[in-house]
Amino acid sequence: MARVFIISNRVAVPKAGLQPGGLEVALKATLKKHTCVWLGWSGELSDLPRTQTFTAGRNSYVVTDLGAEDFEEYYNGFANRVLWPIFHYRLDLAEFSRRDLSGYLRVNNQFAEELTKRLRPDDVVWVHDYHLIPLAKALRERGVRNRIGFFLHIPLPPPEILAAMPNHDTLIPALGDYDLVGFQTDGDAANFARYLARELGTPAHMSMRLGDGERAMRIGTFPVGIETAEFHRMAGRSVRTQLVQQVLKSIPGALMIGVDRLDYSKGIPARLEAYERFLSAHPELHDKITYLQITPKSRSQIKEYSEMAESVNALAGRINGTYSSVTWAPVRYVNRPYSRTALAGLYRAAKVGLVTPMRDGMNLVAKEFVAAQDEEDPGVLILSRFAGAASEFGSALLVNPYDPDAVGGAIARAMMMPLDERRRRHADLYAALLRNDIADWGDKFLVALGAGSDKPRAIDALQDFVPPAGIA
Ligand code: G6P
Repeated sequence: MARVFIISNRVAVPKAGLQPGGLEVALKATLKKHTCVWLGWSGELSDLPRTQTFTAGRNSYVVTDLGAEDFEEYYNGFANRVLWPIFHYRLDLAEFSRRDLSGYLRVNNQFAEELTKRLRPDDVVWVHDYHLIPLAKALRERGVRNRIGFFLHIPLPPPEILAAMPNHDTLIPALGDYDLVGFQTDGDAANFARYLARELGTPAHMSMRLGDGERAMRIGTFPVGIETAEFHRMAGRSVRTQLVQQVLKSIPGALMIGVDRLDYSKGIPARLEAYERFLSAHPELHDKITYLQITPKSRSQIKEYSEMAESVNALAGRINGTYSSVTWAPVRYVNRPYSRTALAGLYRAAKVGLVTPMRDGMNLVAKEFVAAQDEEDPGVLILSRFAGAASEFGSALLVNPYDPDAVGGAIARAMMMPLDERRRRHADLYAALLRNDIADWGDKFLVALGAGSDKPRAIDALQDFVPPAGIA
């Protein structure tokens, strides 16, 4: 097959000692099986942006620097102050400016230039995430006729929310320049189909003609999974390491764990409030549980993120101040990042996994927590119904993260759950993981995109969306 061009904001250039990021894990099989060129931002800022190429085996990595203004307008600005909040249903946090939008389009054009120089006619292009929505349009404007797919890793909200974004009527229809647009869940895909029906009058079924009228853009659902068996083995090894054993020795009672980037979509303050309600309602369980929340800082130059850091610090301090004794602190709140290996061991050591985002595209922590468990004595996953993972994980303790009493109640239930119920739930969740292992993810998408064949193939993963009645 021809080469696969992968384009994403961050590029995982293989370097000794670097931990693989989420996208790298998701694309591992694709990078192994195909000749890939991965292109995107170098992670560096410079006045005179350079483009560098690295090779690893038959794959190459092309990374370009961003100027300080590009970084501010494209990354901090339009991507993370407009698209991120709106796509996570937080219209109240969106700060739109035309300047940021033009920076966003400028960087998309810059990536399109880099790509156009390198593409051969039979290459396929796979674009990732909200930073690069208009990339196909920029490529088509440069005469690129290759097959181009897009995968959105974050949620897509209903049209009633999307339509509040000032430039939605140019940005969202620009997805019509892709041959295939993929989402994490059927709900996200249906929101997109509803948007097309409502705003453009396009019949919301899977083959629709948008863009230049020559191609048919199609919609599919491709939930991201994890490398289940490998993560399970890694957790089994890691739980015996000194780090994990020291954590267990340092706490009385059971470990409850949460691991999230410091981001408002993850619901960390609401989760702490729920834990506070649990502590207040269950004095008999004090010093039987320690909640370890690992939260690396993220996007700290954006006001909402730095403000959140303050409020989470205050909440964790308040809970410890109110409930600690000289031998026990209910919350251990850590801003430092830990390796995937260390996290795997901590997940396995935990009795409860608390994954309660207010909204999340998928949430791989939920999946990794399940994969890490010992099937003979598994921990319990408490999962927000608003995480994409909930659509595959009906056997988790599903909760509404906006209801602190319900989440607090779920913590108590998880702590007291009998072994046979824990095993039953875990077996269901583990089976769901195996049904959707990450090893097949890239190929499912590429086959649906029609890579390696003359025509895009319709496959099971493609959903046939019939517009719900009454949404003309
Ligand atoms: C989410 C997004 C990714 C992004 C990651 C980390 O998972 O879907 O595209 O890379 O967050 O955010 P950052 O802004 O640090 O890249």
